[in-house]
Amino acid sequence: MEVKEIRLEDLDTEKFIAKKVDEISSMVGEGLAINALSGGVDSAVVTMLGHRALGDRLKTCFVENGLMREGEPEFIVSLFKDMGVHVELVDAKETFLNSLKGLDDPEEKREAITQSFYRDVFGDLVRESGARYLLQGTNYTDIEETVAGVKRQHNILEQLGIDSEAMYGYKVIEPLIQLRKTSIRQMGKALGLPEVIFNRPPFPGPALAARIIGKVTPERIDAVRGATTIVEEELADSGAFQYLAILHEDRVVGMRDGKRDFGLQIEVRCWESEDAKTGSPTRLSFDVLDRLAERMTTEVPSVVSVTYNITKKPPSTIEAV
Ligand code: XMP
Repeated sequence: MEVKEIRLEDLDTEKFIAKKVDEISSMVGEGLAINALSGGVDSAVVTMLGHRALGDRLKTCFVENGLMREGEPEFIVSLFKDMGVHVELVDAKETFLNSLKGLDDPEEKREAITQSFYRDVFGDLVRESGARYLLQGTNYTDIEETVAGVKRQHNILEQLGIDSEAMYGYKVIEPLIQLRKTSIRQMGKALGLPEVIFNRPPFPGPALAARIIGKVTPERIDAVRGATTIVEEELADSGAFQYLAILHEDRVVGMRDGKRDFGLQIEVRCWESEDAKTGSPTRLSFDVLDRLAERMTTEVPSVVSVTYNITKKPPSTIEAV
């Protein structure tokens, strides 16, 4: 299926909502559907559209893959509860961590995440619930990057020739596939999501695994999670499109308490972008960079080096994996 982009200036949110609610209702009929809410704007918008279309016949899950930001599962479950949407927390930490064990190639890690998500976790959830459909928030940039061969976005199936029904036992519905991030934010606003959600910086499906170069182990996840908390606190008011911390594979010699310390390196990235298709680094002040370095080397165990990425996308990409 050829996907045609709907540009922001051509988007009438109310009409689009009505059309998508109709489409979802007629596809699912009297049956059940399931969706994964990650807390990002795309999956949040799909959750609201799906509930408008299906009410209680949509089961919304937050998959705790062990790769989420600090406090994220609790934050999202409670925020949606306040909006009247019940979100089931699914503990899939073991599944994801086992599938990533020993891998360091970026595309192999992405493939492991995809299989854990669609085959293992959702395969089981769909079988147990009797749902025949999975609703998800794939957007236009996800498809474009995968089809262009930049990187395989975790949620792309059909464009890679994967028939989800034959392979995993359910059909995938992607209501936002024609929209880019700025339009999805408009949709979030129109659907009554709070601003903390519709204006949230993007967070990738492969979560913190997209920010660990090399092997993904519990210790390395802890390091990048700690650095992520600091970046998000310090850059919340930067107005940037997205900001993140990356853990490098190589360690470097540093010093602590006057002694040699062979420690970790964190790279900070902060992006100006419209839609993630291209980007350029935010011109952060040196005071801000200084505070980031100070906090990371004192609050995240074994970090001895903090760098700032000054490369544009392209040739860089937003995430490191
Ligand atoms: P890149 O790293 O390709 O990222 O420049 C472009 C945008 O997409 C996000 N991203 C993902 N989102 N699944 C997603 O849902 C993925 O597999 C994935 N990989 C990257 C990234 O955070 C950025 O906003």
